Amino acid sequence: MNPHMNSKSFATGLLTAVIAVVLPACSPEKPADNDGHALWLGPAATAETSASITTLDLVQNNLALLGLPVKVKELSIPDDALGEEGYRLEWDGSTGTLQANTPVGLLYGSFEWLRREACDRPLQSGESFESVPVYRHRVLNHWDNPDGSVERGFAGQSLWKWDDIVTDDVAANAGFYAEYARANASVGLNGTVLNNVNADPCMLSAEYLLKVKALADIFRPYGLKVYLSVNFASPKHLGGLKTSDPLEAKVAAWWRDKVAEIYALIPDFGGFLVKANSEGQSGPQDYGRTHADGANMLADALKPYGGIVMWRAFVYAATSPDRARQAVEEFQPLDGQFRDNVIIQIKNGPVDFQPREPFSPLFGQLEKTQVMAEMQITQEYLGHSNHLVFLHPMWKECLDSDTYQKGAGTTVAAVTQGKIFPYRQTAIAGVANIGDSINWCGHPFAQANWYAFGRMAWNSALSSEQIADEWLRQTFAVSDARFLHPVREMMLTSRETTVRYEMPLGLHHLFAGAGHYGPGPWEGSVRPDWSPMYYHKAGPDGVGFDRTLKGTAAVEQYHEPLCSLYNDVTTCPEELLLWFHHLPWDHRMKSGRTLWEELCLTYQSGFEAVCAYRKIWQAAEPYVDRLRFRQVAVRLERQAKDALWWRDAVVGYFQSFSGLDLPEGCTPIQHDLEWLQRFRLHISNYETPGFDKLPPYEL
Ligand code: GCU
Repeated sequence: MNPHMNSKSFATGLLTAVIAVVLPACSPEKPADNDGHALWLGPAATAETSASITTLDLVQNNLALLGLPVKVKELSIPDDALGEEGYRLEWDGSTGTLQANTPVGLLYGSFEWLRREACDRPLQSGESFESVPVYRHRVLNHWDNPDGSVERGFAGQSLWKWDDIVTDDVAANAGFYAEYARANASVGLNGTVLNNVNADPCMLSAEYLLKVKALADIFRPYGLKVYLSVNFASPKHLGGLKTSDPLEAKVAAWWRDKVAEIYALIPDFGGFLVKANSEGQSGPQDYGRTHADGANMLADALKPYGGIVMWRAFVYAATSPDRARQAVEEFQPLDGQFRDNVIIQIKNGPVDFQPREPFSPLFGQLEKTQVMAEMQITQEYLGHSNHLVFLHPMWKECLDSDTYQKGAGTTVAAVTQGKIFPYRQTAIAGVANIGDSINWCGHPFAQANWYAFGRMAWNSALSSEQIADEWLRQTFAVSDARFLHPVREMMLTSRETTVRYEMPLGLHHLFAGAGHYGPGPWEGSVRPDWSPMYYHKAGPDGVGFDRTLKGTAAVEQYHEPLCSLYNDVTTCPEELLLWFHHLPWDHRMKSGRTLWEELCLTYQSGFEAVCAYRKIWQAAEPYVDRLRFRQVAVRLERQAKDALWWRDAVVGYFQSFSGLDLPEGCTPIQHDLEWLQRFRLHISNYETPGFDKLPPYEL
C-alpha cells in the first residue's frame, strides 16, 4: 500500500488487507506459548559463554543447526572483494561451500544460510550468493546508566548488571550477554556503545573498565566491539584536574593515559561516542574551544590503537529562533578541521527523532568531514513499547533522501557510505530498544526494529517488505501467506499510521512534558524550544512553522532543487507542509479539502488504521501462540485508545483557534480539552487511580 495515499483510501486499503485474511479450513496446530526470548533465532539456537569458545566454533554450531553438508573455507585474502567481513555461499545441489576472509565473515555467512532456510529461500543448485556490508561500523547505542536505568528505555532495566560483573572474568548473566551478542551478530551488527550519551564519568574508572572488559571478552567471538560514551569533563570529575580544556597539555595527557589503560584491557576497543555542549553536557565550548578541538584531542589519543570518535551533532541553544538550523550553523564552518578517525554522528532529522522529519540538511553540508546517521530504534516519540510501529520505512526514507550536494543521486546513504567523498571510516548508529525484559524489547513487534536496524546497517538497499517478511517468518515460524500478507501489511503501514494519529502533515513535537508519550499541544516549558507551541505556532491565523525564506529560512540549508521545492507552498510535499509553512486553516490542499478538514480526517484515518490492525491481528490468532497473541492484542487496544486521545487532543486544541466544526467522516470528539489536560496521556495513566471511574474511550 502506498503510505502517501489520501486519508480516506488509507484506512480502506487496510480493510481490504483484512478481508484478504481467510481463516484456514482447519486451524493450524496452536504453537506452544513463546515468551519471545529466542527473538528471531528460534528456540534451538543457544549462545556460547565458555571462555575458550572461538568464532570458528560458533560457525560450526550454526552449520550444525543448518543440518546441511557445508565446507568452510577461510580465504585470508584481505583485498579480495569480500573484504574483512563479507562472505560467499555456494550450493552445488548436494554440498555447500561457505567462504570468507576471516572467521567473523564466516560467522555472518553462516547466519545468512540459517536465515535463508528459515525464510524458505534456500540456494538453488548451482547458485551462489555474496554479500559485504555497506558500513564498516554498525553500532548500537545504549542509553544505559550505571544505576540500571535506561534513558528512553521501555523494556525494563539495563541489560548490564554492573554490580554482578564482579571482576574481569566473573560475570553473572554471562549467558544473557552472549545471547545478546549472538543476536547482534545474526543481523550483522559489530559494535555496541554500552552507556548513555549523557555519560557518567564513572564509566571510565578503573573499576568499571574491568567490568567493560568482562563484557568485551564475552562479545569478542561474535565480532561485537565495545565502545563507550564519555563525559567530556572526565579529566576534571574523575582525574581531579582543574580543567577539561582540550588544548591543555595535561588534559590531553590524561586522555592519552586513559586510552592506554583501556586498550591494555581491551585490545580491540572501538572508541568513544561524545555528546558535548548539548542539553547541559560539558564540552570544548566551555573553554572557548570548538567541537573540532575537542574531537581531535580524543581522536589523537585513540589513533595509535585504531579507535574512532563518534562526535554528535545534536546541538541546539535555547535562544535560537529555529532549532532545526543549528547543527548546520555550528558544524558547517568546521568542515575540514576534523581528524580522519572522527565521524560526525547526525540524527536522521534536524530536530529530534520525530515521527516524520525531513532529513537533516547537515548530511549535505560537509565535504571534508566524515558523517554518519543516528537512528532511534527505541520508540521515544512513537508510542514507547505500547504501540506497534515498524520503523524501517522511516529510516530508509532518510537514507534514500537525495541531498543534491553533488547533483542528483547524492543520497544520505551514498554520502554516509563514503561513495561521494573519500571516507576512511563509515558508520551508522541506532539507539537501542533493548532492556532486561524477558523478550528484550517489551512489545513483541519492537524486536522487528532491532532486527531491521541490523539488516539495514549491513545492506541499506534491502526493502522494508523483505525485512518485515524475514522477521515474521523467523519470529513466528509461519510461512502461510494468510498470516504473512496481512500482518506484513500492518507492519509496513504502521509508521505512516503513527504519523497520522500523532503528527501528520509536517507537524512535530506536540508531546506532553518530559515523557514524550501523549499529546500536549497546549503545554509550556522552562525553555521555549521544549514547548510544543514553539513548533506548531497555532493561532487564529493558522498553523505551522514558517521555515521559508520569509521565515527562519531553514530551507536555504538544503541544496537546489530542494530549497525551492520546500520554499514554495505549491510544491512542498504535503507530508512536510507544516514543517516548512505556516498556513491558514482554509488553505486548499491537493485533495480539494481545506487544511482544517485534511488535518481532522488524517487524524481520524490514523485511528481507523489501528482499528483495522486489531482486526488483522484477531484473524491471525490461529497462527500465533497464546502468549504473544495476547501481548499484541492488549497493546493494539491501548494503541487504538491512544490514537483517539491524540486525535481529540490535537484536533480539539486546534479547534479552539480555527473555530470550525469537524468535517463529515470524523467521529465526534469524546473528551473535551479540560478532561484531556487533567488526565494527561502518560504511559501508565490507564492504571492511575480514579481514571477508570471516568468514562473510558469507546472504540
Ligand atoms: C532527546 C532525548 C534525550 C536524549 C537526547 C539526545 O532529547 O529526549 O533523552 O538525551 O535526545 O539524543 O542526546
